[in-house]
Amino acid sequence: MSALDDLLTCLRFPSVSTDSKHRQDVRACALWLQEKLTKMGLSTELHDTPGHPILIAKNAHRPDRRTVLLYGHYDVQPAEPFAEWQTPPFEPILREGRIYCRGATDNKGQLMAHVSGLAETLRQEGDLPVNLTILFEGEEEIGSPNLKPFLEAHHAELACDVVAISDTGMVGEGVGTFTYGLRGIACMEVKVKGPSIDLHSGIFGGAVANPVTMAARLIASLHDAEGRVMIPGFYDGVRDLQAWERQAWASLGDGEPETLSLTGAPELFGEPGYSERERRWARPTAEVNGMGGGYQGEGSKTVIAREAFFKLSFRLVPDQDPARILRLAEDYLRSQAPASVRLEFKPGHTGKAYLMDPHSPLGLAAQRALQHTFGGQVALIREGGSIPIVQAFKDVLKADTILVGLALPDCQAHAPNENFPVASFEAGIRLNQALLKELAQA
Ligand code: BES
Ligand code: ZN
Repeated sequence: MSALDDLLTCLRFPSVSTDSKHRQDVRACALWLQEKLTKMGLSTELHDTPGHPILIAKNAHRPDRRTVLLYGHYDVQPAEPFAEWQTPPFEPILREGRIYCRGATDNKGQLMAHVSGLAETLRQEGDLPVNLTILFEGEEEIGSPNLKPFLEAHHAELACDVVAISDTGMVGEGVGTFTYGLRGIACMEVKVKGPSIDLHSGIFGGAVANPVTMAARLIASLHDAEGRVMIPGFYDGVRDLQAWERQAWASLGDGEPETLSLTGAPELFGEPGYSERERRWARPTAEVNGMGGGYQGEGSKTVIAREAFFKLSFRLVPDQDPARILRLAEDYLRSQAPASVRLEFKPGHTGKAYLMDPHSPLGLAAQRALQHTFGGQVALIREGGSIPIVQAFKDVLKADTILVGLALPDCQAHAPNENFPVASFEAGIRLNQALLKELAQA
């Protein structure tokens, strides 16, 4: 079986972690991966958790070698809205050199590049240059709720010198990209409750507060007109960008045209005083990811709904603390709400931001592997997305994480028609081989 066939097989599992009806599919994907790694001669263990399984695999560790922990996630985001896919989301198909399927980029294409890279090195050399520990999880897309406790319980078996992950982006096709920072995240859901029953808006309208209106006011109170977050204390402790990184990012060229074309937005918008890359990679944000309440059907219905809701996520940067941000947000929203409604808060997943020194010996080793694989200059970037477990690797295992992702700007991760070029997959296989060699020697 070729590496590409293996990737296609992995992609066919609809391993959607958030959806309980896919529970068995998530497990089946983990079992398939376990069998694959076992056949490669690694010793494997599948650990059940209250959620989805964690797969651990190792070669024989020797005291004279460096230990590398490879992390990836085999769960995927839901495929909805189905109607916007050109082909069914869990039937991988090759079109113009790209594989289209949910999970093609995030993260199965990148995870399988690791697996196939290892298989190739084992085939060529009979051994790996490092002590390897693989940790593949099935809950990344739901905030890794069971992984930090697992790290804490198994920290001795998972001890390592460095973690390596391919689950981030490249600035462009063929441009080796080293990511030295990720934003953190803190999510919450807010319910705005008014009357105890839905009301006739003619009979009672004007005399009671409308929860949908109040939800809209609360959402609007999160930002000023220019996009700064208005929650008192939100920016406390936010670390400034360093001069060298502002310069390095500016040297990548003007990011605005590409972001305009990728997003289709009529104009860019965001915090004054920062370039669009700086806003996405190094500044904290507050986003509304959903809101609802009231009549959603055809035509009109004159009703005052008894409740409304909205879902928020905050992207965080060093040194913001996710729990503190959720507290500040709750306090602020309560202070903005009139007595005519009651608010209920439900905290969601959280994870701290991550930042490492790209000029450290391990960072430089990873950049040499990227240089070897892609040629040209390696781009040094941070990313706006989050991999919450990365800072936990630092806190629990005391190890830095090397982020060498392969996602292209137009990969459509989390969206319909997600795709991954076969060329990126092949480059990822070579990158994995070069990376282990470089990390072994650094
Ligand atoms: N692979 C992404 C994270 C990512 C995306 C990093 C783009 C860098 C660039 C990951 O699978 C993801 O989507 N994470 C979620 C985490 C959340 C659900 C806790 C995210 O960032 O929204
Ligand atoms: Zn991912």
